[in-house]
Amino acid sequence: MIELRDVHKRFGANEVLKGITAAVSRSEVVCIIGPSGSGKSTILRCINGLESYEAGDVLVEGARVERQAASIVGIREKVSMVFQRFNLFPHRTALENVIEGPIYVKQEPRHDAVARGHELLAKVGLADKAGAFPNQLSGGQQQRVAIARALAMQPKAILFDEPTSALDPELVGDVLSVMRKLAEDGMTMVVVTHEMGFARDVADRVLFIDGGVIVEQGQARSLLSQPQHPRTQDFLRRVLHPM
Ligand SMILES: Nc1ncnc2c1ncn2[C@@H]1O[C@H](COP(=O)(O)OP(=O)(O)O)[C@@H](O)[C@H]1O
Ligand SMILES: [Mg+2]
Repeated sequence: MIELRDVHKRFGANEVLKGITAAVSRSEVVCIIGPSGSGKSTILRCINGLESYEAGDVLVEGARVERQAASIVGIREKVSMVFQRFNLFPHRTALENVIEGPIYVKQEPRHDAVARGHELLAKVGLADKAGAFPNQLSGGQQQRVAIARALAMQPKAILFDEPTSALDPELVGDVLSVMRKLAEDGMTMVVVTHEMGFARDVADRVLFIDGGVIVEQGQARSLLSQPQHPRTQDFLRRVLHPM
């Protein structure tokens, strides 16, 4: 469903992706882990056309994501993204945030979008919050609205960029359980996360990125319990035992 072939990306003199080759199958959950600044967000942004890249190919369902980010709109109907900081429209209610894309991008009839918006808010456990504005919701609730908004586009895949990193610890679980349910329903997901428990239990595969290269990848459980590369071992030691 998603394929990256030797993708290179630089910001000025700084080469941040140094030949990324990876593939994600339909209904697969792939977690990307790695230190800050290693290129994790840039990979997601190249997949859904938010970022241009200089060399290589990105394909979504066989269609090439053009290297020049500006030219792409269609891709974002296929691949939704959920951000660390939710990115909801502050002056719109939860429901309005969810139906915005279907109405203005997909030109769905408002009546249908509203009905489906209520269904999606119920799916993420927020049936009673349709009329709430973002500042009336907790971070965890806002992130669940953002997930409902991503689903409203009926994407083929959802990219998550550290979706729980901005949340108070007690709110993380509700968001992760919504994501776990999506995975069980067969959604194709690429998740940048530091939640190693989620990666171990939900991901099919894990990619460890460092310095713009995939240092190691493999089946989630084996990579996390028996990392082969010293850099992976060192990273996991620091994430799992921060003291
Ligand atoms: N818009 C940008 N302009 C310049 N440098 C950037 C920009 N975005 C990211 N970078 C740099 O690219 C590298 C990778 O960033 P990023 O993909 O955000 O890493 P990660 O998500 O793994 O923390 C970092 O060195 C970062 O400083
Ligand atoms: Mg990042």
